[in-house]
Amino acid sequence: MKQLANKQILLGITGSIAAYKACELVRLLRDSGSDVRVVMTQAATEFVSPLTFQALSQNPVHRTLLDETAEAAMGHIELARWADAVVIAPASADSIARLAQGRADDLLGAVCLATPAPVAIAPAMNQQMWLDTATQENIALLQKRGLHILGPATGDQACGDVGPGRMLEPQIIREQIAGLFETGALAGLTVVITAGPTHEPIDPVRFISNYSSGRMGYALAEAVVEAGARCILISGPTHLPIPYKVQRVDVQTAQQMHTAVMEEMSNCNIFIAAAAVADYRPAETSTQKIKKDQQQLRLELVRNPDILQDVTGSHPEVFAVGFAAESGSVEHYATQKLSQKKLRIIIANDISRTDIGFDSPDNEVVVYWQGGSKQLPKASKPQIARQLAAMIADHYNESQ
Ligand code: PMT
Repeated sequence: MKQLANKQILLGITGSIAAYKACELVRLLRDSGSDVRVVMTQAATEFVSPLTFQALSQNPVHRTLLDETAEAAMGHIELARWADAVVIAPASADSIARLAQGRADDLLGAVCLATPAPVAIAPAMNQQMWLDTATQENIALLQKRGLHILGPATGDQACGDVGPGRMLEPQIIREQIAGLFETGALAGLTVVITAGPTHEPIDPVRFISNYSSGRMGYALAEAVVEAGARCILISGPTHLPIPYKVQRVDVQTAQQMHTAVMEEMSNCNIFIAAAAVADYRPAETSTQKIKKDQQQLRLELVRNPDILQDVTGSHPEVFAVGFAAESGSVEHYATQKLSQKKLRIIIANDISRTDIGFDSPDNEVVVYWQGGSKQLPKASKPQIARQLAAMIADHYNESQ
């Protein structure tokens, strides 16, 4: 299940006999390529040992809000930020009531309040408890707040009753978790993205380039596909695999990237320029390796085309989104680029920091548009990319 590859799933387990089925769920999620961290309530540990989940998830199990050793160097806020999705399976009637009240006196409750990620619950309880007005009102409240309710199924229950309240089978829960990442916000649209560095050759063995790894652009490609778009990723040289369902066009130089982008523009709705394109290239490329027989070597550089500016100049109908890689006066330069390059949105990152930006797994950005801005706090590039894809979809839809 490709949608779950490289996803960070926080699995909450509460006190229900269905806790044993969560063992299979952990295995299925890991088989799909997800990294799983388990948070257990005290009641859950009465049903299955934390050691079982530690072995299956290959991560420490988190149990207590204020126990430093149990949290194993990851506090509730870090866990909440780490998660791409929080899934509570099984969710007992009590845990649902606590969620509805917004309680934060245990680790799972605190994580659910603190996470920006989608939260899904798979209820598991006796059919009478499920049908009780209190539970139904709690479920309606959680749904209204945007939580995803997975199931429950109807059938034989551990207590001998028959009816609604059985936890969904792990296989079905896995499919529904995968569905959380498919928002459909960009369905039917074609999004062209540039990513990575460009290599500007000096001679057959040397080139001018920069530290871009391509991670930000590739994460965006994954995010727009999850949002339902067709994505063409025009990529400079990177070591990254082609993301699922993405059509990748490989280029080396800024000029090649320019040509490849322009070829796609007549059929493009949204263009996102995440590549770190070399602004200059050697005026001449030597066909032979340059020998080190001179004390000084002067390279003459000429300007490369500005791909983004050429897109907005020749295709004003395309919704153009740029990045601004700045090392100071971030807001000033980013908003200047927003208007100079006639962009709908610009995403600014501070590349003077070593913990975000170039070649880092994380980023922290400020998104600017005419008349507004929004800060996205530090998070993994895939998490930032999903937030950006949602914002771009909103702005695009408003503009139509
Ligand atoms: O690849 P990673 O390691 O994940 O790092 C991500 C990143 C830091 C490269 C990315 O987040 C980022 O900031 N990309 C834009 C880098 C950049 O070139 O910024 P700029 O401020 O110099 O350019 C402004 C915009 O014009 C960018 O959208 C850029 O893609 C575009 N541009 C620039 C020059 C040029 N010749 N053609 C362009 O299209």
